[in-house]
Amino acid sequence: MAQLGLIGIGVMGSALAQNLAENGHDVAMLDRTMSKMQAVIDSAQDQGLPGKLTAHADAQALIDALPAPRAILVLVPSGAPLRSVVDTLKPLLAKGDLIADLGNSNYTDTQAYVAELEAEGLEFIGMGISGGAEGARHGPSIMAGGSKDSWARIVEPLSDAAAKFEGDPCCDWFGPGGSGHFIKMIHNGIEYAVMQLIAEAYGVMKHGLRMPTEDIGQKFTAWNKGHLDSYLMKIAAEVLSTKDPITGNDMVEMILDQAGQKGTGRWSVIEALHLGAPSSMMAAAVEARNISALKEDRIAIQSIFGASQDAIPTEIITNDKALDALESALILATILAYSQGMEIIRRASVASEWNLDLAAIARVWRAGCIIRSSLLDNFSDFFEGSPDALLIEDPAFEKEFRVRGPLLQMVASFGLVSGNHVPVFAAATNYYNLMRSGQGTANMIQALRDRFGAHSFERMDNLGQKVIGPWHDK
Ligand code: 6PG
Repeated sequence: MAQLGLIGIGVMGSALAQNLAENGHDVAMLDRTMSKMQAVIDSAQDQGLPGKLTAHADAQALIDALPAPRAILVLVPSGAPLRSVVDTLKPLLAKGDLIADLGNSNYTDTQAYVAELEAEGLEFIGMGISGGAEGARHGPSIMAGGSKDSWARIVEPLSDAAAKFEGDPCCDWFGPGGSGHFIKMIHNGIEYAVMQLIAEAYGVMKHGLRMPTEDIGQKFTAWNKGHLDSYLMKIAAEVLSTKDPITGNDMVEMILDQAGQKGTGRWSVIEALHLGAPSSMMAAAVEARNISALKEDRIAIQSIFGASQDAIPTEIITNDKALDALESALILATILAYSQGMEIIRRASVASEWNLDLAAIARVWRAGCIIRSSLLDNFSDFFEGSPDALLIEDPAFEKEFRVRGPLLQMVASFGLVSGNHVPVFAAATNYYNLMRSGQGTANMIQALRDRFGAHSFERMDNLGQKVIGPWHDK
């Protein structure tokens, strides 16, 4: 009998089925298209994979093929498709059976599924998986939440299939309810911020420093050997060195500059706002994608004012030092993006009583996922010793911030002065500047709130006491 059920044999589902089979696990598959399942079975046979894959015509046949209590992984789009699968399975399942949703579901949906299924004696796990199709085939990073007891039943095959960091599987259960999907959502929020930083660095190099695309790619390759050693930097270098087979031009220059998005970045920012956790970098990244969509407006406005980069005074186009500054700015801004993301998770954990282990989350991101980076090993060590601190306080990076902080400020300024849009570098710089300001400017906000609405404030020489200002005496 098959050990696991898998519903949804699309690009990700077929890759995961083969990965599980490669690790010796038997998988019973279900998809609306029989030919897709047959193709996976044929390909697994050609590759000589030891696990057995079987195709099933409907949900009942799938369920009959699985030993009780059953475990069924579902890899279909979130929202209505997932709802439909759950509705089909529910009346056919027996008490103790488990459904695991491996899609990018909103964690609030996951919370609702956990409650709904548990009320009927069924189990539900919301599981974020990262790494795209390549990861699903050769080792994704897996972030699970929901029913802990049933996790024990699927941890072995999933750990076998997961990416390994120095032998440790990047696969873990973190907490109850929708916590696994919350972690995956913030993973994606960080992904948005870091990708936008890379795009901004490319923009500054191309338009600000007037570098040919290929040279930018070579610089990224060099940076990928230092602190910026990461999956996203690696594929950015690869993308920039690829030519269009049709025109021979740089491939990236042939791509329409309108970014897609499926919602996880936006959800991250919405949740962070609810929690009162700083999310300025991912918010700026989501905004940048939104503005990218306004192609027609951008063209119309450029025709009125001219392209913003045309306004660059040539003396501002500097030399190698600018590239070193850019590398430093990217390093710091990347650390700050993870710092904001981790803080959102920590606050959600407190608010929802999930008791999440930030060190374990950083560990699970060290391999397989899209935001894997050589920095994550440091991050997990830091949270191991300081679970309640902000990542920006990590002493391992203190020197980096002292030395490179002014360069981050310089790059954000240069980006703007050179007519580029650098919203995430600017957000990083503002966050950094504000977080190192023991004295900010919110005293002015408080004064204004009190002046127009008698909202009161605390005096610094009399803390704890709410008073109103002398402007009310007039
Ligand atoms: C991953 C990715 C994956 C997907 C994103 C893309 O971790 O493997 O994050 O989940 O590629 O959802 O999201 P957008 O379409 O919103 O960019």
